[in-house]
Amino acid sequence: MELSGKICIVICALMSVSNGSEMLTLDKQEEFVLVGASPQYKCTVNKNANFLIGNPLKWEKRGRDGSKVVISVLANVEAGLADEYNVQLDTTDSAMSFTLSFKQGIKEDYDGHFACVLYNKSNTVLAEKSVDVHVIQTIKKTEFKIGDQKQTVAGEPALSIRLEEGTYKPICRTEGSNPAAVIKIYLGNTEEMGDPQVEVPDTSRTQPPPVFNVEKSVTIMLKPADNNKILKCVAKVRDDDSMKTEISYKLEVFSIPPEISCNNITAMKGNKFVELTCTIKVPGITCTSKNIFWENGENGDRYDVDYNQNGLRVFCLNQVKGVVSTTLRIDAVTEANFKTDYFVVYVNKHSTTTRKQAILNQGKAIVSRGHLSEV
Ligand SMILES: *[C@@H]1O[C@H](CO)[C@@H](O)[C@H](O)[C@H]1NC(C)=O
Ligand SMILES: *[C@@H]1O[C@H](CO)[C@@H](O)[C@H](O)[C@H]1NC(C)=O
Repeated sequence: MELSGKICIVICALMSVSNGSEMLTLDKQEEFVLVGASPQYKCTVNKNANFLIGNPLKWEKRGRDGSKVVISVLANVEAGLADEYNVQLDTTDSAMSFTLSFKQGIKEDYDGHFACVLYNKSNTVLAEKSVDVHVIQTIKKTEFKIGDQKQTVAGEPALSIRLEEGTYKPICRTEGSNPAAVIKIYLGNTEEMGDPQVEVPDTSRTQPPPVFNVEKSVTIMLKPADNNKILKCVAKVRDDDSMKTEISYKLEVFSIPPEISCNNITAMKGNKFVELTCTIKVPGITCTSKNIFWENGENGDRYDVDYNQNGLRVFCLNQVKGVVSTTLRIDAVTEANFKTDYFVVYVNKHSTTTRKQAILNQGKAIVSRGHLSEV
């Protein structure tokens, strides 16, 4: 076989495969449409009427659940569907087009594929094209939470809230949109990135279109400097402002700094049971709240309440309401203890940390009148 023959085997085979799809064209492949919209889908066959008499072209509706309904054969809409669908036939010398339109506008259950399919006499598919129609659903509910505050009414003026300085994880949720909403959270004019949003299909919905619930959370540190800022959640469907919901808070950030006072201790090498004690005063504090500890300024070691290792012990005592005292006891003072800065640390429930050093001074030994004493 000569070369051109070999080329033909390849090219001619490709042509016969692609022929089926070349025969049909459809002007859209995918579309998002609102309920009530009136799109049109035009399917063109590059064949004449004689061909089509033997090889019918049908419009079919295919649900995402696998259901199939024949809408029309050539330009004839099936009995019972004529009040919903229209098929307009246009003819040229070389082609015929069948344009599908929707007499009552798009309905929710149109979500799925509309296919134009060319069959031969024995009902074998010769070619087909389809458009994936997504029926848009707007957001049904938006909810924005920070601390123990929650708002669900979108579009209202910012709600004023008072929050204590600290770290918060506001969460914004939307329900019931198709496609999934895109949620953004802003503090002032700054978008807070946080974690990627989580989208889940709403499985309680049984008929099409599918709808999605979306959740977005960010972590923010609020300081008194954020006072009067607006914390806002903006949720949009298809980046369309007409399908947007917005909920905002006007922040009032306050701080309740704890009052911490520590004794200054003077000790000498070898002294036993030397105690550094600090008093912490702040509303609600108790020894059991697990947010009081001591810290070694040299190596960062943390000594929690009831710590008891390597000659160090930590005690805590509830004094009166809102006041605790905590003690770091050194069993036997060494040179290393004088070289170390010891801090008491209090972390409030919003993760705001306050540190205070308890000072251990090294006493100088002096000899006076034959007695050894400390200064
Ligand atoms: C329809 O197409 C199939 C597959 O190509 C073929 O087997 C069948 O004979 C065709 N029927 C007619 C009536 O042409
Ligand atoms: C503890 O000592 C430091 C410096 O040594 C001093 O500034 C501070 O006032 C002292 N505090 C008390 C309560 O004596």
